[in-house]
Amino acid sequence: MQAVKGEGNNMGEKVLNVAVVGAGYWGKNLVRNFATADRCRLKYVCDLDEKLLAVHKRNFPAVEVSKDVDEVLRDEQIDAVVIAVEVPSHFEIARKSLQAGKHTFVEKPLTLKSSESRQLVKDADERGLKLMVGHLLEYHSAVTYIKGLIDAGGLGRPYYMYTQRVNLGIVRKDENAWWSLAPHDISVICYLFDSRPVSVAARGQSFLQEDVEDVVFATVKFDDGKMAHIHCSWLDPHKIRKMTVVGSEKMVTFDDMQASEKVRIWDKGAAIKKDTEAGYPEIISLRFGDIVIPKIAATEPLALECKHFINGVLDGEPIRSDGGDGLKVVQVLEAGQRSLDNNGEPIELEYYK
Ligand SMILES: NC(=O)c1ccc[n+]([C@@H]2O[C@H](COP(=O)([O-])OP(=O)(O)OC[C@H]3O[C@@H](n4cnc5c(N)ncnc54)[C@H](O)[C@@H]3O)[C@@H](O)[C@H]2O)c1
Repeated sequence: MQAVKGEGNNMGEKVLNVAVVGAGYWGKNLVRNFATADRCRLKYVCDLDEKLLAVHKRNFPAVEVSKDVDEVLRDEQIDAVVIAVEVPSHFEIARKSLQAGKHTFVEKPLTLKSSESRQLVKDADERGLKLMVGHLLEYHSAVTYIKGLIDAGGLGRPYYMYTQRVNLGIVRKDENAWWSLAPHDISVICYLFDSRPVSVAARGQSFLQEDVEDVVFATVKFDDGKMAHIHCSWLDPHKIRKMTVVGSEKMVTFDDMQASEKVRIWDKGAAIKKDTEAGYPEIISLRFGDIVIPKIAATEPLALECKHFINGVLDGEPIRSDGGDGLKVVQVLEAGQRSLDNNGEPIELEYYK
């Protein structure tokens, strides 16, 4: 892996020199987090919009600002580039960043095409650079808790899960609700299940703008028989950020709209009982047990995500949402889009062909 060039801090620790490219609606959160993170120095904020740059300069006077991404990439002191520009520009800027030898963090989805994501993974591997995708939910402490629970067998065998990510707005023009909202759900489903998605069937409808779906209902099937359903929309009266995982022994829900007590573990299940000795037919017994609400620390997921990137680069630790993870999510998005374009026909993922 490439060594970082930054000087140490006053505690003698290595420090990562970072540039954030794209400092708009979401990028400003990345600017705030990288400007205040340990073992990190935010050297540049880069955006085409001078007014935005002036705001960031006022908030963080020590940061240099620039409208020119090439100028930032030429700076040899910069170890890592964080990209939060509009999705169609992800590939071009991320490729330039990797070619300039910078560890690269790209907002979700990694790219608009899986061929582009594959190229970025190759570029990073060839140069020994870290490539990370902003799959924010993979860093949410509630998701970390649920992952531990599932991996420890706390739900029994996971059967299926479903997610709801609906609200009124933000209505995008250059991407539909599937590409804008579902990356979070797809990434967290793949993370929790640790299984390979094999097919996607998606139906949606465009009401506000031609050929830009406002609402999508999608079903993803996995190679080991698991199933997931995703409902995403920016045209809905409710603000729901919820997921439910159903296992053979227990079930778990995660409601991100709750201020606290976001996770509930339901001791509920169904089992087929056979009493062959007595000669009775099979019966399905239902179990209605306790609901447990675990105590989970509430840390800003974005702070944890940024810390993970900094530690990954400085300490050479593996990146959870790495380029391969980003590629998988883009493959599911692409298959879902093909299904949307073909009236909900199930589409097999390309890597199976
Ligand atoms: N993780 C999350 O929860 C989350 C939430 C919202 C958006 N996002 C992602 O963040 C990214 C940005 O979305 P947004 O809503 O902030 O968009 P935005 O339009 O508000 O911001 C994009 C910014 O990039 C700047 N930009 C564009 N091209 C540039 C270039 N060549 N050089 C420098 N700056 C350039 C624009 O001037 C703009 O300020 C997208 O990838 C989006 O998917 C992630």
